[in-house]
Amino acid sequence: MELTQLALRHFRNYDQAVLTFQPGVNVFLGQNAQGKTNLLEAIYALALARSHRTKNDKDLIEWGQKEARISGRVQNRFGQTPLSLSWSASGKKARVNHLDQPRLSTYVGQLNVILFAPEDLDLVKGAPTVRRRFIDVELGQMNQRYLQQSAQYRKILKERNTYLKQLANRQQSDEVFLQILTEQLIEAAAKVMLARARFLADLAQAAQPIHDQITKGQEKLTLHYQTVFEVNPDSSEEAVKAALAAAFEKQAKQERLRQTTLVGPHRDDVQIIINDRDVADFGSQGQQRTAALSIKLAEIDLMYQETGEYPILLLDDVLSELDAERQTHLLLAIQDRVQTFLTAPSLSEVARQLIHEPKIFNVQAGQVTDNAPA
Ligand SMILES: Nc1ncnc2c1ncn2[C@@H]1O[C@H](COP(=O)(O)OP(=O)(O)O)[C@@H](O)[C@H]1O
Ligand SMILES: [Mg+2]
Repeated sequence: MELTQLALRHFRNYDQAVLTFQPGVNVFLGQNAQGKTNLLEAIYALALARSHRTKNDKDLIEWGQKEARISGRVQNRFGQTPLSLSWSASGKKARVNHLDQPRLSTYVGQLNVILFAPEDLDLVKGAPTVRRRFIDVELGQMNQRYLQQSAQYRKILKERNTYLKQLANRQQSDEVFLQILTEQLIEAAAKVMLARARFLADLAQAAQPIHDQITKGQEKLTLHYQTVFEVNPDSSEEAVKAALAAAFEKQAKQERLRQTTLVGPHRDDVQIIINDRDVADFGSQGQQRTAALSIKLAEIDLMYQETGEYPILLLDDVLSELDAERQTHLLLAIQDRVQTFLTAPSLSEVARQLIHEPKIFNVQAGQVTDNAPA
């Protein structure tokens, strides 16, 4: 798929901008703090109806303004789809084909993006939340059902945690209701966990050949889904539910003591393993970066397999974080198949050689010009 046009109004430091993109590589060049990442953030938000760097929608509205709007046109094999989003004091509005989408799960998925920023190099050694968020974002784009299931899970989890606190403070004493909440939670948790296990198995399968190529066959990359018990992609839902029920039973006392839910996918993690060792603990920084790169590139293939369309790729200042060899792998992997948006202060030598006729945009203080020489 392809983003052909993007229009911004009162978004971050853009008062107003209209940009037309090309199918290949689009480059945003500029000094620090000019608005390059803001452009990628707008594209990301157009895809996922939320920012990748703030939870607070108000941050997206240009200072002194009341409403931010972004709109764009997505071209896929079925045709063009106009998308738009706006944020104001009365909330967020999402539209597909000019029609309001009251449920974000029907909005997300029209435009698929993969974002690669320097922080993503932390995928391997960062906290478990980083990897859980990664799964939720990537799987959610490919799988509308997963979005609904994980939202359902979060809702019941919140309710159950509140109830555990009320029980502890003796505002409530209804054990039966806790049991009902636990059963509902197990129902939702099993679906989320199985979807995650399947996603990770598919991702590992797509990542291995890429990693093989980058490391010239030196490293075997595997992903291990870590939960309180073993969940395999071919586990049955019944088996997962039974294991969850047993785990809840075992933790019952602890949960009452700590007044919070101690079992479930909100505590999952992914182990990234190279040659049978956890690369977060034993890998060099170079190995960790290569693993992150392989996983990101694998997502491109996986999204294509799942949706029949390549996602668009957003590269925020990553080329400068990678050595020439890794830059080469990245650029060769996207060449001629993935529409790419990348930001940089200037293009590296490798990038100049490997990117075919990039469309260059110069970004300065919230103004974009696209007629500048490369
Ligand atoms: N809501 C906002 N309204 C106006 N300007 C903003 C807003 N949020 C951020 N900015 C400005 O945007 C600039 C940062 O843009 P960014 O895209 O992160 O820069 P870079 O080009 O380094 O990637 C800063 O100058 C910051 O002050
Ligand atoms: Mg930036």
